[in-house]
Amino acid sequence: MLEHHGSGVYLWRADSFPPSALEHDGVVLERFMDRIFVPIPFDELTPVQISTINTIRERVLGSVPNRTVNEQVKRAVAGFLARTSAKSALEWGCGYAPIGQYLPEVAVDYLDIDPAVVSFHRAARRRCYFADNDNSRIPASRYDAIISVFVWHFHVSFGQMRSMLRGAAAEWIRDSQRLSA
Ligand SMILES: C[S@@+](CC[C@H](N)C(=O)[O-])C[C@H]1O[C@@H](n2cnc3c(N)ncnc32)[C@H](O)[C@@H]1O
Repeated sequence: MLEHHGSGVYLWRADSFPPSALEHDGVVLERFMDRIFVPIPFDELTPVQISTINTIRERVLGSVPNRTVNEQVKRAVAGFLARTSAKSALEWGCGYAPIGQYLPEVAVDYLDIDPAVVSFHRAARRRCYFADNDNSRIPASRYDAIISVFVWHFHVSFGQMRSMLRGAAAEWIRDSQRLSA
């Protein structure tokens, strides 16, 4: 029923809907997302665990309904951006399925904390920053929008948030405040 993918990350293999938490070998595991279980608070996931989760989501869960839900959310975010004047965007925590495919009119760059994801995008000739190491390379006031889909249940440091704010065009921050007012 539970398949171990290394570093304490498990995949629920049964057809039934997974519970929100369960005990396995004396350890309490919590459902993190989709059918993935981890043993510790989500914001303490290590880089290796994050990479393992990404691999499971891409290679094992890629074809099941999760992808449909993910696409719906991405299309909704892209639809919102398309109604604005945004010409450039940075997707923070892009994973393997970049949002740029839904935003043909917007120049999208990427950033992720998983080196395998960063290599994947760089191999496809997309600009992709490696979180933490590359934050200072993000040009100041460069992006009309910073997009982040399914990322805020991971740990995002204050330093990273400062980098997002620095990278966002000041004019855009004012606009988006007006839009959400
Ligand atoms: C659940 S996936 C979502 C990926 C993509 N946004 C999507 O919707 O398909 C979360 C992504 O955020 C990345 N991530 C987690 N914490 C991060 C952080 N602090 N900074 C940047 N990326 C992060 C993970 O490596 C992973 O690729």
